[in-house]
Amino acid sequence: MARVTKRGRAAVHNSASVADLLLTWYDANRRDLPWRYAPGVRADPYRVWLSEIMLQQTVVKAVIPYFVTFTTRWPTVEALAAAPLDDVLTAWAGLGYYSRARNLHAAAQAIVRDHAGAFPHDERTLRTLPGVGPYTSAAITAIGHGLKATPVDGNVERVVSRLFGIEQPLPAAKRTLHALATSLTPDARAGDFAQAMMDLGATVCSPKTPSCLLCPLSTTCLARGLGIAETLPRKIPRAARPTRYGTAFVVTRADGHVLLRKRPPTGLLGGLFDLPSTDWSEIEPGANAIAAARPVAARYRAVSTTVVHVFTHFRLELAVELASVARADVSSPLQWAAANALATYALPTVALKVLEAAAFQGAPRKRAKRT
Ligand code: ADE
Repeated sequence: MARVTKRGRAAVHNSASVADLLLTWYDANRRDLPWRYAPGVRADPYRVWLSEIMLQQTVVKAVIPYFVTFTTRWPTVEALAAAPLDDVLTAWAGLGYYSRARNLHAAAQAIVRDHAGAFPHDERTLRTLPGVGPYTSAAITAIGHGLKATPVDGNVERVVSRLFGIEQPLPAAKRTLHALATSLTPDARAGDFAQAMMDLGATVCSPKTPSCLLCPLSTTCLARGLGIAETLPRKIPRAARPTRYGTAFVVTRADGHVLLRKRPPTGLLGGLFDLPSTDWSEIEPGANAIAAARPVAARYRAVSTTVVHVFTHFRLELAVELASVARADVSSPLQWAAANALATYALPTVALKVLEAAAFQGAPRKRAKRT
């Protein structure tokens, strides 16, 4: 039984029947995904962990090819731990939020070093792994180990807020929604229940136009009863993203190499190769700052296209300058890269956009969109 009386509409649901209805629906309608296991088949927590890290802030469709590549190349946590970080970053290129790849590698090493290669069974210990927070630790526990736990992501929040008619906006409603989702979780099949909630949220209980006629929970859904399903969950509007500005440089060498710069190991896009640029700042760089940031002496000419890329916390507008040189000696963090080998560098999407704006021949294709 789950009950909300505080800050939300009073509601009582029979949690056993909600779980039964949802699991029956899941058995007939589950999405066939490469990290999923048929009912009764023991899951490999390594694959569950890997998929959940990849699925953070990223849509299922974009994750599938990366998951297949990673598990083919590194079929075990030991194999991933033994891989050079640069290989992992390169294989991650295009999936975005690169700190996930660094944490992934560090967590694989911690599993091998501190846990004899086995994923811990309790959420607290799992949360000590880099990149594993409350959501991922609960997902590994429920889906990977088959133990009772309740991972709550945006899909689950949406389903629960509608089912119970919770009108308190996010993020304040998070605790209430988490408690309600927990109250619905059955003792058996907690992993399937979690994935059923995710699938229902992704395919039926969608944000703008929920398909309530197809929903196994429609008769018990308070928001549907009140005709407010598509308005939930309510959200406090986010502050607008600030815009940052910069100028990026595409410098080519007579033999077709292009100049890259390795970013510092921590921070935004940490450890990735990128194109040299000015700082990215909310104040547009002036002519002096641009001149000072040019990576080698050459004649630079501006490209007319401005590149726009949206990061989580800011929007970036980059002007682009091109130059070609016969040769130039450079030292770390700068490095010449053969144009036909650019695909082997972990170039972030923003760098690919700059190369495209510069009509650079041989640039790897931009990759699937995130979120
Ligand atoms: N989103 C996050 N985790 C997921 C999972 N295991 N299945 C489907 N969608 C998800």
